Amino acid sequence: MKNVRPRSYAICGGAFGDEGKGRIVDMLVHKLSKDGLVVVYRDNGGANAGHTVEFPNGQRVALHQLPSGVFIQGAVVVLGKEMVLHPGDLLEELSQVEAVTVTKDRAEIKIDEMALLSLDTHRAFEAVLKDWQSGGKGSTGRGIAPAYADVLLRHPLRVRDITHFQDEKVKQHYKMYTALIAGLGQDLATIEVPTLAGQKIVVGSEDEFVARLKSQAQSLKKYAESVHDWLAEQWADHKVGFVFEKAQAVGLDCRWGVYPDVTASDTTFAGIFSATEGVIDPNQIKVKAGVIKATYMSSVGTRKLPTLMKTELADLIRHDAHEYGATTKRPRDIAYLDLPALKFFSQVGKIDSLVLTHMDVIYPDQPVKVCVGYEVAGKKVSYRPDQVFLDAVKPIYKEFKPWDAQQLMQADSRKELPKEARDFLDFVAKQVGVPVIMITTGPQREQGILLEDIGV
Ligand code: IMP
Repeated sequence: MKNVRPRSYAICGGAFGDEGKGRIVDMLVHKLSKDGLVVVYRDNGGANAGHTVEFPNGQRVALHQLPSGVFIQGAVVVLGKEMVLHPGDLLEELSQVEAVTVTKDRAEIKIDEMALLSLDTHRAFEAVLKDWQSGGKGSTGRGIAPAYADVLLRHPLRVRDITHFQDEKVKQHYKMYTALIAGLGQDLATIEVPTLAGQKIVVGSEDEFVARLKSQAQSLKKYAESVHDWLAEQWADHKVGFVFEKAQAVGLDCRWGVYPDVTASDTTFAGIFSATEGVIDPNQIKVKAGVIKATYMSSVGTRKLPTLMKTELADLIRHDAHEYGATTKRPRDIAYLDLPALKFFSQVGKIDSLVLTHMDVIYPDQPVKVCVGYEVAGKKVSYRPDQVFLDAVKPIYKEFKPWDAQQLMQADSRKELPKEARDFLDFVAKQVGVPVIMITTGPQREQGILLEDIGV
């Protein structure tokens, strides 16, 4: 029998990212925090993620490395072992968080001292490598892939290497990237790299790089610690709430996505097991929800989605739903909902339920068109993460009547939803093979409707 850990919830992107995970995490943490401590754990990715939090007074903060629970009192947010952290960007993010809140209104922040570093060297290398790659030009430029490559090459730098500054190790790292980049015909010291604050900085000489890192490490030191034993204690105490916030999405996973538009981390719930060194078995998490957009899909990168929307509706959706990258500001491709792809991501990502966001992106004169299957040469086929295969498939579509947006926005429960919306939700759940537990009708916390009792 499944050994379920009460008060534990995990949220991942069920498509290609930017599905609105942050607001679901925010809602869960907010509810759980009313009954005591909540741990918000992020295990993967780094400054490539992006989620904007808007305050009632109009102030906005874009979170990249910090989990969404950071603005909730009574939460402890943990940046886990398999994240790749950029110290400069993290400090900038922390100062933005401090600027809009007083300490008592914030969560406590813990950084696993074993978390990986993604540095300006990685950003420079990624920028130079782009010129040599036939594909893969579409990374966020945040040095994510080179930082994870360091792990496979067995020489990663970790947070504790700078909070207890390992001079030789850091210098060796700089020297290696100097040589790699020189081999590709450029000079590391003079390369400009992006920062979260918006301006670009040059990587600088070895001394400058080391000095910058040392000073950043001084400011980060107070957050860094060994989290292993503490985490095990919290997990064993069933009064403590847990929310796992995955970054990116299953469709961007380096094994389950389509190359070259994949990120380097494990974007599935499985990553929680390795990041917590086996302390938290994702099989025990009560709810493992994949978040998808209800009426369309969006994606950035070079991939050619089989269901790409080529009509003016795509421009309308992009405009109305602000479909521009939070990190890169790039306009996103808009596509019809691709149920074969979503079913695949749910299966490989071990997703046990769905949250559908953007239910309010609906137009009275436009049917909701969804892809219900693929055909190749008249034969039905399933989704596979291979662009050559996907280029050959013919999507089969089904159209649904649009629902009344006003009635939807006023609904508080499943039975108050317009019938068209209920029929649509039932169909999606059946096709993907997991229940829809929640929908959202707007960006605010209260604009979410729980369709099943999930214990919050
Ligand atoms: P990287 O994560 O910067 O290496 O980028 C690899 C691929 O993942 C690129 O196609 C990015 O656009 C995409 N990507 C990374 N993070 C996100 C995200 O948070 N949302 C959407 N796409 C992302």
